[in-house]
Amino acid sequence: MHILITGGAGFIGTNFVRTTVETHPGSTITVLDKIGYAGNPANVEGLPGVTLVVGDIAEKDIVDPLVKAADLVVHFAAESHNDNSLLDPSPFIYSNIVGTFNILEACRKYKVRLHHISTDEVYGDLALDDPNAFTDATPYMPSSPYSASKAGSDMLVRAWVRSFGVEATISNCSNNYGPYQHIEKFIPRMITNRIDGVRPKLYGDGLNVRDWIHVLDHNTAVWAIIEKGRIGETYLIGADGEMNNKNVVMLLNELMGFAPDDYEHVADRAGHDRRYAIDNTKLCEELGWAPHFVDFRSGLEDTIEWYRSNESWWRAAKAETEAKYAAQGQ
Ligand code: NAD
Ligand code: TYD
Repeated sequence: MHILITGGAGFIGTNFVRTTVETHPGSTITVLDKIGYAGNPANVEGLPGVTLVVGDIAEKDIVDPLVKAADLVVHFAAESHNDNSLLDPSPFIYSNIVGTFNILEACRKYKVRLHHISTDEVYGDLALDDPNAFTDATPYMPSSPYSASKAGSDMLVRAWVRSFGVEATISNCSNNYGPYQHIEKFIPRMITNRIDGVRPKLYGDGLNVRDWIHVLDHNTAVWAIIEKGRIGETYLIGADGEMNNKNVVMLLNELMGFAPDDYEHVADRAGHDRRYAIDNTKLCEELGWAPHFVDFRSGLEDTIEWYRSNESWWRAAKAETEAKYAAQGQ
């Protein structure tokens, strides 16, 4: 099997490429990634059977021949950070909507199976005391330009399945953590701040809840959907990992040898979603999937160790990333 993996030099895509090399040794992989600020070619260079093509999914001439040559497309490429989408939404519309449109048109033309990677953020947020979690029947209610652009891309996939018979599945996953995540994101930002002697910064009251899943669990679920999922279906991926940001920071402080309450509050994010929570019943019962990394404390310990041992991977981006946050008053 020849697999085209878009965004395969970013956080989740890199992990997906690296495990697929191990779990599907007979396959070859082309990674299509524009190597924007979040993509790093070194993440996938030298892996057996993997070729990196540096290019933009919003350019049809680049996408077409790569999709034509593939048996399967796994589509991770996207602008992925809410805070960036509030500063400038335009790359989000371009990559996430125009880019996905191009991927869909090529999959339609060459009749190639597609799995589209999306986020639980398309469903908006839940109140802290809401007894329900998101399911595939929850109405779309995105809050930010990022989540709105991902919602738009999901809608395109659904329409291309129904109107053109494209063989696609969709997954909407909760917040990932693990190795290779860009240091603009919450957990790696806090870890690398601590390494640099800077106190973690909590947006607003710090009580916003995210449903954390280890990136490798996300990716085993994606493979389960590719291999056993029903065409046209949406599967929500989550591992029952709800925790508020304050408790994440307190645990991180403890694991890194600091007083748990050694953090500061900064101005809240505009439109900040209060809580995400995934009901994974469909995925678990229909496809027999179960998460492996069920102990968040030990997953976080391993992630801290990865950032400590791989400072050369993130160091170059740290000053620029923090300068961007400083310009927003943090
Ligand atoms: P990331 O920002 O680390 O990686 C995205 C990759 O896509 C980068 O390598 C970037 O260079 C590439 N890319 C962006 N625009 C492109 C374009 N126009 N053409 C080619 N390549 C382009 O993001 P991530 O966290 O790895 O997220 C991957 C996917 O998973 C996204 O679709 C995101 O919406 C989704 N997702 C992420 C999370 C999470 O917690 N990080 C949770 C659920 C879903
Ligand atoms: P983030 O990693 O940006 O993911 P998302 O916005 O997709 O959930 O943020 C996770 C949570 O952490 C979110 O509630 C915002 C919060 N946050 C902070 O409190 N401080 C920070 O420095 C960052 C980057 C995020």
